[in-house]
Formats: sequence, structure tokens, C-alpha cells
Amino acid sequence: MSQMKHIDSIPSHPWKFKMEKSPYHRQRPYSSLVKLTLWSFVFIGLIFMFFFRSSPSSSQVSSNLSRRSFRTSSYGGPVWEKRVKASAKIRSRNGFSVLVTGAAGFVGTHVSAALKRRGDGVLGLDNFNDYYDPSLKRARQALLERTGVYIVEGDINDVTLLKKLFDVVAFTHVMHLAAQAGVRYAMENPSSYVHSNIAGLVSVLEVCKSVNPQPAIVWASSSSVYGLNTKVPFSERDRTDQPASLYAATKKAGEEIAHTYNHIHGLSLTGLRFFTVYGPWGRPDMAYFFFTQDILRGKSIPIFEASNHGTVARDFTYIDDIVKGCLAALDTAEKSTGSGGKKSRPAQLRVYNLGNTSPVPVSDLVSILERLLKVKAKRLVMKLPRNGDVQFTHANISLAQRELGYKPTTDLQTGLKKFVRWYLSYYGNGKKSAQ
Ligand SMILES: NC(=O)c1ccc[n+]([C@@H]2O[C@H](COP(=O)([O-])OP(=O)(O)OC[C@H]3O[C@@H](n4cnc5c(N)ncnc54)[C@H](O)[C@@H]3O)[C@@H](O)[C@H]2O)c1
Repeated sequence: MSQMKHIDSIPSHPWKFKMEKSPYHRQRPYSSLVKLTLWSFVFIGLIFMFFFRSSPSSSQVSSNLSRRSFRTSSYGGPVWEKRVKASAKIRSRNGFSVLVTGAAGFVGTHVSAALKRRGDGVLGLDNFNDYYDPSLKRARQALLERTGVYIVEGDINDVTLLKKLFDVVAFTHVMHLAAQAGVRYAMENPSSYVHSNIAGLVSVLEVCKSVNPQPAIVWASSSSVYGLNTKVPFSERDRTDQPASLYAATKKAGEEIAHTYNHIHGLSLTGLRFFTVYGPWGRPDMAYFFFTQDILRGKSIPIFEASNHGTVARDFTYIDDIVKGCLAALDTAEKSTGSGGKKSRPAQLRVYNLGNTSPVPVSDLVSILERLLKVKAKRLVMKLPRNGDVQFTHANISLAQRELGYKPTTDLQTGLKKFVRWYLSYYGNGKKSAQ
């Protein structure tokens, strides 16, 4: 008891004496409250000190965040599910519910808008990566939002997210457009091609094979699979075993992977080999886009030339024609035939060229841009570097014509006119520009 008193009488705090000397006995509980508050401050202060001393640099924080954002995208909950369902809701008779991967991309935005317009349910998925200016992807997202298409932000490698999406919506079709595009960037970041074009494709197919009913899948391959093939025009029957870039190799690998999932699991799969797609809301890494930007800025533009002064030409295909081809591929896709991961009978497996059948020399593209922009380009003729670009592309589209009713109608002059009009309105007469 005396010891108790002793401990009690030791001031644990300089203020304690003052409090105890107070004539107002009722203030004793108040005194212990002050004590508690003070200790809490000391404790919180210590936590802060510890936190700041051990906190990582801002770059570490952002890299951790980006890693984390891939692992756990924020999704789920009744509000989110309601939004997903509303976006994917079918509004026309015999309409589809389509999961569009890469929906914030160039082709994905146009395809999503077209599907929505005709009454299909559409849900987008995109990781909004910064391969090119993400603000352009955000602007496309805002555009789609106005038409009622919601884009879930997430990575196609996030299998938990993909499964969740299929839990919420029984998608009839998947339009798989998410990919690491671009040929030259593979020299800089090869693993991004493996991540999105190989691992990502496998994740999408794994989930599609395991859900019931399985959706039909239409996905973007590329004309680049023709690689060093010199027989023109490129036909689906031509060899595709000589890719000239890692990008092309991953697309070719995708075609083989598609074969496997079709063969084992009965997934209905259609690969579309797009030929140099261009148009409004396009990709800033593509020549027609950055030529426009550089011509307006007065910067010189490289015009590549093959050995022996050979012309470099592309089968430029206008976006609206590509969209029609994508929709026709969805419309003619048969149902997948598997369930529980096993196929019950052979399923459809197709590959089509979607091009324009009229290759145009890149120097002609520049002349058209000069006329439309009313600015003379500073041309710098250079040797075609050996970093993945091929000398020419030329599509034979007779198979797509026969089986999809595909018939491109926009020539380069008309299509570029629409692109330039969009470019000038989006970037404000060329004063602002893509990054
Ligand atoms: N545009 C062309 O000329 C062309 C030619 C041949 C093939 N393709 C193919 O067509 C498809 C669409 O091309 P695009 O021109 O619209 O390209 P894009 O880069 O504009 O669109 C691709 C979209 O996919 C997203 N994405 C990439 N990796 C992802 C991942 N791991 N998870 C989720 N989202 C991811 C990107 O953020 C981007 O918005 C691609 O598969 C591309 O390889 C395009």
C-alpha cells in the first residue's frame, strides 16, 4: 500500500503535480485524460518518425504502385457490378455481349463504339499503359463513356479479374485487341511483347476455355506475320515462318497458340491480320500520325528507301473498313464447342487478311499530307533500318471478301482527309501535339 502510494506520488509528468495540487477533486479524471492524450501524441510522433525514416523514395513508391496496380486492380462490389452489367447489356434482338480487350486503343475504341451503336452489349478492358501518350487513351475512354461503354482498368494477365468479369456477364464473344503494338519498340522493351502478346493471350484463352458457355473469340493478329515473304499479294496460304521483328514473332506465336486452344478445348477462334490501319483517334507511334505532327512543326521526316533505291510501300487500311471486317468476323463466328475445358466436336478456326489491296509508297503518303496540311515537308531520304520494318505489305483479301463480305471502300486520300481533320481539331491546329 505504501509502495502504491509511493508510485502514485512520483510525478510521471511535470504537470502531474499541478493537477494533483488542484483544489478541485473532480479534475482528477481530467488529469488522466490529459496524460493519455499526451502519451498518444508521443506514440503517434514515434510512428511518424519511424515511417519517414524508413519510407522509400518516390520512384520506389511509384514502381511499387504500378506493380501493385497490376496485381490488384480495384474491382468488385455492387456499384461496379451494376456498371459492368449495364455496359454489357444487349439492346438489340440477337445482339451479342462482347468483351473488348484493348478498348482504349485505336482499333478497340472504334470497334467498341460500332458494336454499341448497333445494340450489342460491350464491356471494355484496358491497362492504359504508357507505350504512347495515355491521355489519348483517356480521351478515347471518355468518348466511349458517352456512348455507354465502360472500360474496366486492368491487365489481361490478371486472371482473377477476367474470371470475375465472366462471373458478372456471360459474354457471347471476346474481341481481343489488347497487345503491345509497334515494330521498333521491341528493340527497347522486348518483354512487353511477351507479357501482352503471348502471356496475355494465353490468360485470355485460359479463362475463355474454362467458362461455360465458352465465348467465340475474334482477335488481332497482324500483316507483319508475312515477314520476309516476297510473294505478293500476301495470301493467308503464304508462309509465315520468317518474322522480321519480335512483334511479328509474337503475333505468329499467337496464331499457333490459337490453334492449340481450338484443337484441345474447342474454342472458336478467328485471327485477323490487319494491314497498317490509320484514321481519326489513331496511334501516335505510326508514320502517318507523327509525319503530320512533324510536318506541322517544321521538323524533317525520314522517308525510308530499301536497298537499290527500292520503294517502301504500305497497304494502308482505313479504320472504318477494319471495323466492318471485325464486325463481320464476329457475326460469322460459330459457337465454341467445349465445356469444362474439353471440346465436344471440332470448332471453327479462321485467319483472314484485312487490308486494302492497294499498297501506296510512303513518299506518296507524305505528298497527300503536304496537300492536306498546306505545308511542305522536309524530307530526309534514308536507308530502311534493319530493326523490324519490311519493305512493303500488300494484302490479298479474296478470302475475307468471300467469307466475311469484306470490301474496303476508303482510299488513302479520303481517309487521310478525315484523319487530318480530326488531328487539327484534337490538337488545336497543330499547335499542341502528341507527346
Ligand atoms: N493499328 C495497326 O495498324 C495494326 C496492324 C496490325 C495489327 N494490329 C493489332 O491490332 C490490335 C489493336 O491495335 P491498335 O492499333 O488499336 O493498338 P493500341 O496500342 O492503340 O491498342 C492496344 C490497347 O491494348 C492495351 N493493352 C496493351 N497491353 C495490355 C495488357 N497487357 N492488358 C490490358 N490492356 C493492354 C493498350 O493500353 C492499348 O490501349 C493490336 O493487337 C495490334 O497488335 C494493329
